[in-house]
Amino acid sequence: MTRNPSTDLYRNPELQFRGEIPSGRIGWRSPSNIALVKYWGKKPVQLPQNPSVSFTLKNSNTETVLEYMPADERGMDVVFYFDGERNEQFEKKTKNFFDSLKDTFPFIGRLKFVIHSKNNFPHSAGIASSASGMSALALILCDLERNYFNTLTDDDEFFRKASYIARLGSGSACRSVYGGISLWGDTEGLPGTSDLYAFPVQQDIHPDFLTYRDTILLIDAGQKKVSSRVGHSLMDKHPFAKQKYKLARKNLKVLLDAMSRGDFQTFIRITELEALSMHAMMMTSNPYYLLMKPNTLNIIERVFNFRQKQNTPVSFTLDAGPNVHLLYPAAYRNVVMNFIENELMPYLTAGGYIDDEVGNGPERIKDKNGEIKVGG
Ligand code: DP6
Repeated sequence: MTRNPSTDLYRNPELQFRGEIPSGRIGWRSPSNIALVKYWGKKPVQLPQNPSVSFTLKNSNTETVLEYMPADERGMDVVFYFDGERNEQFEKKTKNFFDSLKDTFPFIGRLKFVIHSKNNFPHSAGIASSASGMSALALILCDLERNYFNTLTDDDEFFRKASYIARLGSGSACRSVYGGISLWGDTEGLPGTSDLYAFPVQQDIHPDFLTYRDTILLIDAGQKKVSSRVGHSLMDKHPFAKQKYKLARKNLKVLLDAMSRGDFQTFIRITELEALSMHAMMMTSNPYYLLMKPNTLNIIERVFNFRQKQNTPVSFTLDAGPNVHLLYPAAYRNVVMNFIENELMPYLTAGGYIDDEVGNGPERIKDKNGEIKVGG
């Protein structure tokens, strides 16, 4: 059978338990990320149309603990608790995901899983919970493999495989596996980059960008009307798609160069251009749709005015939703916080904002005795 590298790169029939089927538990805490150059448009299977780059966040995390035990005669099964409550939607999604991974992790087929997961950011925050959630699950599966098969003992290999698996769960999740700044997609002139998994780009980045801040302004608590999955698929026949992918490639190059030089002005220009170009795609697809809200625009205008008057290097980016991420160097924290408190609060929901910053990436969950706690 021929291999398709996008799904079969790690296919390995050897990863099957011999003898007794084990029980145990593994937990990982994994962060969300915010894209600076966006992944918007994909090709099969879960491959990006253009490379993207993101800040991994510090405070917006998913904590997932997975208990595993021998499956009964019905085979692999998943029970999923989210915030302490059984969640059938996540259960179905995870079971399908695990089923799709049976050639990569054949041992999965012999196990039953009870998963406890929680986010430390509000549901409605519009923070990509699939990125943190899927990366946590991918890390757990790789950890399980490492524990029983003595594979993935090299950390680079471990995280590369986790990123590959996370990508299959949700594209943007592959970038959450690395702390700091993470790049996903084949990039000319950057050896080691790939469409199959993300790549950490800390070297050559000016230190100011490794402590950058992201304050997430919550503008609307409603469920978004068009999912990212549908948004990606609308790019397939989008009349501007080719130009958009070309622009993203160029933006990525210019942005990385600006980030190596500590050039805030170029960083501002590219991050805002990327956010607005992605939303422009939504506004010009067939059917067209709009995820920004009036207060998204009110805030953007305030940011433009503030930046000009106060000479402060703050820029905005948007995810696939109405909330605004304010990006700025740590040295400007007080100035930007005052700006938010004095000028932006009237535009925010009761949830206010989430104060976040660039973080170090995922961690294995342990308590003082080296044991992990299970629970919602
Ligand atoms: C708008 O990663 O959620 O956050 O691969 O279908 O799960 P799937 O899509 P997803 O896409 C979201 C993309 C984005 C921009 C980005 O993070 O690059």
